[in-house]
Amino acid sequence: MPAAGARDRETRTRPEDVDAPGSAEPFLPLQRDLDHLRAAAATCRGCALYARATQTVFGEGPVHPEVFFVGEQPGDYEDQQGRPFVGPAGQLLERALAKAGIERSKVYVTNAVKHFKWEPRGKRRIHNRPNAKEIAACRPWLDAELDAVKPTVVVCLGAVAAQALLGASFSVLRQRGQLLSANGLPVMATVHPASVLRAPDEDARHAAELAFERDIESVVPIIRASKAA
Ligand code: URA
Ligand code: SF4
Repeated sequence: MPAAGARDRETRTRPEDVDAPGSAEPFLPLQRDLDHLRAAAATCRGCALYARATQTVFGEGPVHPEVFFVGEQPGDYEDQQGRPFVGPAGQLLERALAKAGIERSKVYVTNAVKHFKWEPRGKRRIHNRPNAKEIAACRPWLDAELDAVKPTVVVCLGAVAAQALLGASFSVLRQRGQLLSANGLPVMATVHPASVLRAPDEDARHAAELAFERDIESVVPIIRASKAA
């Protein structure tokens, strides 16, 4: 899909005026390998969020990744580039991977919701958190990605991803770093890297980044164990 210009985006249908089925399910292809999934997701109209976004941002990475990262939804950069985690949050994630000794080429990154949800404020596009219905509508893509790539371990980045996979009662504050399971896979949830970037001052940011890195490092033994098996 061609990326629409900013003017074009503003004149598009508002998400609240779109009549969508409320699930991505009717848009899933028969063949469920990554290439077919990505091509089909590009035309998903499962919920209203496609209406204001530039394009679908599908997951990226190898089959059988060591880690499968799930974020919330594409941000402004990702919406424009069509690739997940290419902005500042992605850079922070890359630093944590490097510190943990996890190769970037061996991880798969995706989001719980594949279209950027935003509100206009002047000329800016303000990130808007996806609601439970939108997360549920997009879930078939996430499940299909997990089935297609069969990762060693899944890491949820933030509450939206954690609640998508681990249930609405999951609390990142209380349960971050715990090893749980979903979709028959080991799953750990930590904070969203964007929350680290939002820390109020330099000391808080540094502490938050260290805690984030510790959580990422905690899945390394699972990767090692699966290689040894
Ligand atoms: N934040 C996310 O949750 N996902 C991205 O792809 C980028 C920023
Ligand atoms: Fe489809 Fe998900 Fe985009 Fe909604 S957010 S239109 S379900 S890809």
